[in-house]
This record gives sequence, C-alpha cells and structure tokens, in this order.
Amino acid sequence: MKKVTKAVFPAAGLGTRFLPATKANPKEMLPIVDKPLIQYAAEEAAAAGITDLIFIIGRTKRAIADHFDKAYELEVELETKGKLRALKELREMLPPSVNYIFIRQPEALGLGHAVLCAQPAVNDEPFAVLLADDLIDAEPGVTRQMCDLFTYYQCSLVGVQNVDPSETGAYGIVAAERMADKLSRITRIVEKPKPEEAPSNLAVVGRYVLTPRIFHHLRHIERGAGGELQLTDGIAALLEEQQVLAYEFDGKRFDCGSKTGYLEATVEYALKHPEVAAEFRTYVEQRFCGPCRAGKA
Ligand code: UTP
Repeated sequence: MKKVTKAVFPAAGLGTRFLPATKANPKEMLPIVDKPLIQYAAEEAAAAGITDLIFIIGRTKRAIADHFDKAYELEVELETKGKLRALKELREMLPPSVNYIFIRQPEALGLGHAVLCAQPAVNDEPFAVLLADDLIDAEPGVTRQMCDLFTYYQCSLVGVQNVDPSETGAYGIVAAERMADKLSRITRIVEKPKPEEAPSNLAVVGRYVLTPRIFHHLRHIERGAGGELQLTDGIAALLEEQQVLAYEFDGKRFDCGSKTGYLEATVEYALKHPEVAAEFRTYVEQRFCGPCRAGKA
C-alpha cells in the first residue's frame, strides 16, 4: 500500500495574464491578503501529511526559494522590536519536518514539462501536484481529500469541477463514467476543447495525484494546445494503461491566475481574516451594500 509523501508545485510559468505584476515577481508570490499563493498551497500539502515539497521554478522565481528559507536578520529584528506574534507566525509557517526541494525549469515549455522536471526528486513514488494559482478553500484541504482516496484506490486522480459550457476552452475536460459519489472513471481527457467539441463540462483544476508512470508518458508527448507540452496529454496516454479517476472535490476554488478570480479570492479571504475581517466588512457594507439597499428601496 503506497502513500503520498511528495508534492510538486509547478511555478515556472510566465504569468502573462498578470503582467506587469509578474514581470520581475512570480505569480505564485502574489498575496491573498497577507500570504502568498504558494504558501497556501504548501500549507495544504503539509496538512495532507506530505513531507517533500518540490518546487519547479524558473526565471524570476528566486523569491519562492527565499520565501521558504530562514530569514535570520528579519527574525532578529522582530525579536528586538518585540513583535513576537509575527515572529512566531514566521517560524511556524510550516512544520519543521518538511523538506524543500527547488528544481529549475530552464524554459517554460508547458505544465507537462514542468512536472517532468520533478522526476529526479520524485523517483518511483506517487506524488501530488498543486497549482498554486488555483486556490481552493476547503476543510479538509483538497490534497488531503485526494491523498486519502489514493491510499484507498492506489491509482491516479485529478481534481475536477463543473464549469460553464462556454469555458471549456480554458481547461482540460474529461469524459467519465460515474463509479461512486463525486468519483468517476475517466475514459477520455482533452486539453482546451471548443465548447462544441468538449466531451463534458467536467474541468480539471489544479490538483492531481499521479503515479510515477506519468513520467514515462511525459517524456514521449508532443507539443499540444498552445504549442506547450501539456500534462493533460500525458494523462491521456497514462489512461491507456492505468485507471485515472476524476474527483469532484469539496471546496470553493478561486482561479487566481485570472484577475477576476484573484480579486474574488482577496475579498472572500479578507472577509474571514481574523485581523481585518470586521473592518473590511464594514467598509464593503458601507461602500457597496448601502447604495444597493437604498437603490432597491
Ligand atoms: P498557467 O498557464 O496557468 O500559468 O499554468 P502561466 O503560463 O504562468 O500563466 P499565463 O497563462 O501566462 O498567465 C499553470 C501552472 O503551471 C505552471 C505555472 O507556473 C502555473 O502554476 N507552469 C506552466 C510551469 O511551471 N511551467 C510551464 O512551462 C508552464
């Protein structure tokens, strides 16, 4: 019985939808209130019992390695100034047992290629993949939900959710046969199909648990949608020899790779942030809800 102890965080994309913010800073370092996206993802993986965090980084991505490194000067400064709560938060960001591994993807050739770059650190183990720009608010976290399913089914899983038929061109879309509540057996997977060609509305979002056999297929795929080496095409090849399940996870997903999704996440997380929620709610209500109510009266 295998368990998932490794997670890969592809973070070497160009983030073109967020330019100029991503010109010199990685998209994955954009904060939702006060925490960068990549930290939400790392915490989600650690909460699932994952111990090896493997970051695929690229040009301009040094900030990610720095973020997870110990910041000696900052810690001394916080201690001297008596900012002990901030210091505690910084020190307890992630469990001390976690290992950080950084691998460079020299060129942004696509998500499939980014995952392939993780092979030397993953070896022959099952592993999770988390796309930090898909922020998913869930308890327990989606990675925990999927690792538990992996422990039971011992096969690859992809996180899916229903999307509007007009949006299929932005996702990998699966055709699947229902086998249990929220769980289906994938029969086909296509990257970014036009709505009229999509096999369903079930879209793959940024959570996967994969068997190491995926690496064999990722080595052999050709450039697909957008001229990139697509993880979806690797999974399509994997399907030919192994079962892959689609899991309709419990949780609310925010597409933080898009400006609107990022703003929605910021508002939702601010409205439940212990430090700013009350003040921010008052602001939102006064600024927006007052006039709405007045307009309706
Ligand atoms: P996206 O397509 O959402 O990210 O890739 P992007 O290419 O950075 O963004 P846009 O579309 O130009 O705005 C999904 C995930 O895969 C990673 C990205 O960093 C993101 O987390 N990725 C993508 C890589 O690590 N390497 C790649 O070559 C491509």
